[in-house]
Amino acid sequence: ALAGGGILLPIGIQYRGYAQRTDERVEPFTLAFRKPPVLNPVRSDSNTDYYEIAMQIAQVEILPGRRTQIWGYNGIFPGPTIKQRKHRQSVVRFINNLSINTSVHLHGMPSLPQYDGYAEDLISPGFYKDYVYPNSVASIMWYHDHAIGKTSFNAYMGLAGMYIVQDDEELNLPLPSGDYDIPLIIHDKTFAANGSLIFDDQAQHSVMGEVITVNGVPWPRMEVANRKYRFRVLNTSISRSYKLALSTGNDITVIGTDDGLMPRPMNTKDMRLGMAERYDLIIDFSKYSIGTQVELQNLGLPNNDNTGNTNKIMRFDVVRSEVDNSSIPSTLRNIQFLSESDAVRTREFVFDRSNRMWLINDKGWDKNRVDANPQLEEVEIWRLRNTSGLWFHPVHVHLIEGQILDRNGQPPFVYERGLKDVFYVGENETVRIIGKFKPNIGKYMYHCHNMVHEDHDMMSQFEVGQGGIDPMSAPPKPLPA
Ligand code: C2O
Ligand code: CU
Repeated sequence: ALAGGGILLPIGIQYRGYAQRTDERVEPFTLAFRKPPVLNPVRSDSNTDYYEIAMQIAQVEILPGRRTQIWGYNGIFPGPTIKQRKHRQSVVRFINNLSINTSVHLHGMPSLPQYDGYAEDLISPGFYKDYVYPNSVASIMWYHDHAIGKTSFNAYMGLAGMYIVQDDEELNLPLPSGDYDIPLIIHDKTFAANGSLIFDDQAQHSVMGEVITVNGVPWPRMEVANRKYRFRVLNTSISRSYKLALSTGNDITVIGTDDGLMPRPMNTKDMRLGMAERYDLIIDFSKYSIGTQVELQNLGLPNNDNTGNTNKIMRFDVVRSEVDNSSIPSTLRNIQFLSESDAVRTREFVFDRSNRMWLINDKGWDKNRVDANPQLEEVEIWRLRNTSGLWFHPVHVHLIEGQILDRNGQPPFVYERGLKDVFYVGENETVRIIGKFKPNIGKYMYHCHNMVHEDHDMMSQFEVGQGGIDPMSAPPKPLPA
């Protein structure tokens, strides 16, 4: 079948049962770990850094000895990491050298509506758009495709990258830094025998890859010293969530959530990582002797395909001893949490499905409809109710830095007690969140971050205030001939 603008890709083929699984073609923990490159600005002035990223087709080696055609930001998967200081502005020129329409969303920052990667605000082939980011939040973010109805396919083909903003307060903490501060971008894929990607959304349900990649490498092996490391973990999978745990049964220390550092570190033995969630973690290898192998495992979750090697993510091999001058302070950041009494109203959103479509309050996406209209600076409680039985929905609300009040009436997991923009609504769960609608007026989307659900049609929008800028009002420009 021809799909996605002329790329030959086997869509929906029945590869299970007779084909050799891709996870049998690559041995876990044999390939070397790597970090995505950090992008340099093309120029800078007193308050702004200017970057350029081209979306393009590339042939890359993901499985050893095989070529895989991807769509990559600058031709790589994942895309280059942008690292920025808080309040220094970034202008990123995203150039569309592909043959499909794209839209780029910076996930995790309150961007102006016309720069937010609005799903209908498409960059056509041969056009570019300068996205302006204020970098008003110090956190782990990511930029990814958000094209209307095509997000799952485009992101699966490779259009995703990390974006880190740091502030002085964070940089002054004695946390592991430099070579010990490492992105882990987790993403699952399935490959045909010749290396090409197989996109099988199982009739608009979910894409479950057989191969777990970290920073684009299948089940990598990373050599570490016997000290603390900081890992910035991001799940860019289309539909797979993970339950992270260490094979040694030791604690993982969580220091940050989607929207920055937590007030204080929290320890956990395992944690759910839904699509688009970010967690800032510390793993302490000082308790292990040289030669120890520590696996980062996926304990599996209901309604994910938990077969094959999908229970493995990567392995840390403790190979050398080093002095560790870093530490984890007991206070990381001061957050003014909202309380229920700050809210002016409660809204309810029901996540369900009908006739192969995924809906919010029985409705799909309509760019001319607005389903909530909070005023600027108002605080609201949103009740996210999952009535779709065994499905789970990590719900993303653009713009806000929210908090989870409770899940099925119980307090959120210890690792969720920070600011978030993705709220894991598991099977038969009702999650109450609270957030303030600031700093911009305008239209913003909210949706399930199972991108297959998002595309088929579990997405809507709210409008903050009145008279906001039309998100379609800054159209992309053609590339000079
Ligand atoms: Cu990460 Cu609306 O997306
Ligand atoms: Cu969903």
